[in-house]
Amino acid sequence: MSVQEYLDKHTLSRKIEDAVNAAVRAKTSDPVLFIANHMKKAVPSVITKVKARQILDSRGIPTVEVDLHTNKGVFRASVPSGDSSGTYEAIELRDGDKGMYLGNSVAKAVKNINDRISEALIGMDPKLQAQIDHAMIDLDKTEKKNELGANAILAVSIAACKAGAAEKEVPLCKHLSDLSGRANMTLPVPAFTVLSGGNHASNHFAIQEIMILPVGASRFEEALQWGSETYHHLKAVVTEKNGNMGCNVGEDGGLTPDISSLKEGLELVKEAINRTGYGDKIKIAIDVAATNFCIGTKYDLDIKSPNKAGQNFKSAEDMIDMYKELCAEYPIVFIEDPFDKEDWEHTKHFSALGICQVVGDDLLMSNSKRVERAIQESACNALLLKVNQIGTVTEAIEVVKLARDAQWGVVTSHRCGETEDSFISDLSVGLATGVIKAGAPCRGERTMKYNQLLRIEEELGDQAVYAGEDWRQTL
Ligand code: PGA
Ligand code: ZN
Repeated sequence: MSVQEYLDKHTLSRKIEDAVNAAVRAKTSDPVLFIANHMKKAVPSVITKVKARQILDSRGIPTVEVDLHTNKGVFRASVPSGDSSGTYEAIELRDGDKGMYLGNSVAKAVKNINDRISEALIGMDPKLQAQIDHAMIDLDKTEKKNELGANAILAVSIAACKAGAAEKEVPLCKHLSDLSGRANMTLPVPAFTVLSGGNHASNHFAIQEIMILPVGASRFEEALQWGSETYHHLKAVVTEKNGNMGCNVGEDGGLTPDISSLKEGLELVKEAINRTGYGDKIKIAIDVAATNFCIGTKYDLDIKSPNKAGQNFKSAEDMIDMYKELCAEYPIVFIEDPFDKEDWEHTKHFSALGICQVVGDDLLMSNSKRVERAIQESACNALLLKVNQIGTVTEAIEVVKLARDAQWGVVTSHRCGETEDSFISDLSVGLATGVIKAGAPCRGERTMKYNQLLRIEEELGDQAVYAGEDWRQTL
């Protein structure tokens, strides 16, 4: 087609005239820029290039980053990675060459994006998230995304989502809210990790984390302030009681005193909350991650203490008694993974007591079939949403819908290996999940998420709603 034919076909002289008239009407101080932007909007946006690379996550382990180009700009996304990985979650593709990053490099996933995914997506409209995600799912053809790698697929899915928001000229959280069909966006209550143990720290504490939730704050900004203040008071408490070595931080930024029981940890946190003066406006949550210290059908809370391990096993009933006592004594609003990931019976029994919300993380692995089973059996009553266990934005939205339809709570979650991407912050607002768990109020890859929520709250202005006490009912 000649240029003249192209100009005629796309009625470009009319469009240029419209742009000039619009610039005059707008009385713009910079007509050239105005006309250029006006013309840019007249061009429908398409994906023009998808380029991936290997970067490092917060643990220093390789992960995937992608730059997705449209004719409107370049949109970047990277994917996290975690400790717990199970049979039911989407497969993270790693090269397995022990001579490269001890087998953890992701060159194959990067190549899959640069060659196959890129070819399939070029020319697609970035606003059509479901079509983009399904194009990748179809290309992969496996149930758990092991052909292309869920790490490859998710990075592109998130980058496309950012491009879609830019094309619509709306904030990312609004685009996600539209994609999910939800009308109300809500700023989540942050569940800040303040004490770390389990696989995330090298102390002797078997429990993975104790979190605090400033549910009584009036805005997210205030919740962040309270979280940070509590964290710093806790540093002082830990230094007084356990020495300043206890203030070293775990993978999620939580402090790591060498405590030996959950009660001891809760006492430290309670004292820190007391020192803030916010009282019961700050609640507590626990991620037990019990799979990590389950031996057969018993639980070894001393598993990380060399001279005590293997000597004092607790039965699941003992664990239930312990949770009951602790919930009566401390303001605990949820417990995550109170039992082994295959111990459906005790998780169900504990949920039925109705003492606190029971969140399924390793139990569910964000897998829709596991979620459906848990709903049917009333095994737990909240979903821990880890997008990289699913692999696409579209499927993440679907699994949240499933949980919501069952009146469950939803906690949007980071992974222990995080990146500088703050996508989950927008996701938590757009899907109104009510709670976000993104680690301590310190360390760049964690504060990145909380700081993005500050920006979203600022941008929403009068429209911003903080979930607060309604963190479970943000329907
Ligand atoms: P993971 O931990 O990223 O190591 O799986 C996060 C969590 O258990 O919530
Ligand atoms: Zn967990």
